[in-house]
Amino acid sequence: KRRIGVMTSGGDAPGMNGAVRAVVRMSIAQNCESYVILEGYEGLVQGGDMIKEMGWEDVRGYLSEGGTLIGTARCKSFMERPGRLAAAKNMVLKGIDALIICGGDGSLTGADKFRGEWPGLVAELVEKGDLTAEQVEPFKHLNIVGLVGSIDNDLSMTDATIGCYSSLGRICESVDYIDATAFSHQRAFVIEVMGRHCGWLALMAGVSTGADFVFIPENPPSDDWEKEMCHIIKQHRDMGKRKTIVIVAEGAIDRSLNKITPSMVKDLLTNQLGLDTRITTLGHVQRGGTACAYDRMLSTLQGAEAVKAVLDATPETPSPVICILENKIVRRPLLEAVKQTHEVAEAIEAKDFDRAMSLRDAEFAE
Ligand code: F6P
Repeated sequence: KRRIGVMTSGGDAPGMNGAVRAVVRMSIAQNCESYVILEGYEGLVQGGDMIKEMGWEDVRGYLSEGGTLIGTARCKSFMERPGRLAAAKNMVLKGIDALIICGGDGSLTGADKFRGEWPGLVAELVEKGDLTAEQVEPFKHLNIVGLVGSIDNDLSMTDATIGCYSSLGRICESVDYIDATAFSHQRAFVIEVMGRHCGWLALMAGVSTGADFVFIPENPPSDDWEKEMCHIIKQHRDMGKRKTIVIVAEGAIDRSLNKITPSMVKDLLTNQLGLDTRITTLGHVQRGGTACAYDRMLSTLQGAEAVKAVLDATPETPSPVICILENKIVRRPLLEAVKQTHEVAEAIEAKDFDRAMSLRDAEFAE
């Protein structure tokens, strides 16, 4: 029987549990044995009880739980070769030669690197006498399949990452709460939302709540943004608006790549417009909590597809990442998706914002 491992890695995202549940149950339904790796790559490096066989019943109730029940970590030791050697040994000892990873682009790139190194790693383990040639014989290749779990919706080649719609829903709900108190006192609120290099959460929250102004990294405001923002907000106030909402993505910058912070925006609203202004940083409230229906559905369909991708894989197939494009669950080459994702970050760093935006537009038009 084939043994398939599943783990979650990097920042948790609502829907990760749905993905684990789907992988476990689909593996069993396909007559494979299913294993979870606890605490992300850390569990792979430590081995032993951190790699646990799962039965059908073990994932009961997972769909309605937030976070990731099997744990996650940003593991340093896996980044070094000795850590990956230990991980390869633990996998061979458990008889696992396929890994499905639900995480962000960094976690998925690490997995593909592991796959590339795999033959060298097992050869070294035999050379050192840690494993015998017979033990490694059935484990010539490693299969890797990626599932994108991230609230930021920051991977190219997919319309949505697992978690992004839950997070967006939470942000909108929070802005609605803030709206009520802002309206009451005629106040302004500057709300910081997550999204390190990606403005999707901020932009969509702005659209969904009718915010007055939004700052995102891919499309920084004009050099004259202080004036422009104050002008627009004053217009809104002149039209009779009793409240002001400005949404700032965590990674917001100006055209010279200087950070635009909520306190800079607050000072402007206070000093230039005389608005009584407060800052709210939504923080990890955006990341925790249960998954919305969309993320439960997405993680379930994608988890099932990931198992199929493992069973279809040949040593020549590049590692796939499971995406959703125009409402269809599809497989795309993992490294290609990561490369496109990095191109956006590179364009921002090069201050080529037209390119950053056109790359983002192309993602959604694909
Ligand atoms: O990658 C998701 C994310 O939510 C980012 O938007 C944010 O910068 C980061 O995680 C914060 O992660 P942590 O608090 O776990 O370091």
